[in-house]
Amino acid sequence: MTTALITGSTAGIGAAFARRLAADGHNLVLVARDTKRLREQATELHDGHGIEAEVLPADLSTDEGIAAVEERLRNRRSPVDLLVNNAGFGNKGRYLDVPMADELTMLKVHIEAVLRLTSAATESMRERGRGGVINVASVAAFVPRGTYGASKAWVVQFTQGAAKDLAGSGVRLMALCPGFVRTEFHERAGMGTDNIPKWMWLDADKLVAAALTDLSRDKTLSIPDPRYKALMGVVKLTPRPLLGGLTSRTGRKYGPQ
Ligand SMILES: NC(=O)c1ccc[n+]([C@@H]2O[C@H](COP(=O)([O-])OP(=O)(O)OC[C@H]3O[C@@H](n4cnc5c(N)ncnc54)[C@H](OP(=O)(O)O)[C@@H]3O)[C@@H](O)[C@H]2O)c1
Repeated sequence: MTTALITGSTAGIGAAFARRLAADGHNLVLVARDTKRLREQATELHDGHGIEAEVLPADLSTDEGIAAVEERLRNRRSPVDLLVNNAGFGNKGRYLDVPMADELTMLKVHIEAVLRLTSAATESMRERGRGGVINVASVAAFVPRGTYGASKAWVVQFTQGAAKDLAGSGVRLMALCPGFVRTEFHERAGMGTDNIPKWMWLDADKLVAAALTDLSRDKTLSIPDPRYKALMGVVKLTPRPLLGGLTSRTGRKYGPQ
């Protein structure tokens, strides 16, 4: 039996990964801040699928939280075969409206935690000659959209670079770039979503199924939906200065307010 560690496992995309991996018979290590919710999730997945579900409460915006998860990933006696770096959040507001402390917290969770946890996991995966890492980024990585987009652009570049450096080691790394997914994300950030067209919403379970297929095909970047693949194709062909104005206007019209 293999073991997967999922950060941000208790809601949204992370919970969809937990459901799918448990159904596939993987043991799980569940990471988030809310211990009660983690315990309830572990019990439900254990009872429903007969797998072992460990609970690891950790705040990935703190050094102690990151260190606790690093330690679990370095445990050679109980190895982790798949790491899903999924925990993340949005800050409401434009540049300079968001308090600096919140910007820095985002960089800690989206960048420092992802760097440290990926490194802790892949060191021991490389020794064993197998393993996988999915780093959840966003299609916001490809457009100029504040610190959120910039941090997700880092996730994409870092993951694809590391995948190249570890090619041939048996360790797969993939950046996952969802579009809008119905989760707790927007509500937690206090962002309204009424103006986002229906066709732009993705289903978390389908997203996860497509992501796992892409990982098994050795992809290092997954944009798992034809609608967003087409949109990102257009984005690639659009000159950067024009793109900045367009994404800013469209973002304000259709994006979370
Ligand atoms: N939803 C979208 O439209 C969308 C689109 C593109 C990309 N994404 C990305 O997908 C990932 C998951 O987002 P989601 O939409 O599923 O969000 P969500 O429903 O709000 O779930 C977030 C999860 O992360 C955990 N978490 C948040 N901050 C944490 C911290 N400091 N330390 C540890 N765990 C933390 C939360 O649990 P606790 O509160 O208990 O810690 C929860 O389990 C994020 O990286 C996000 O940027 C989302």
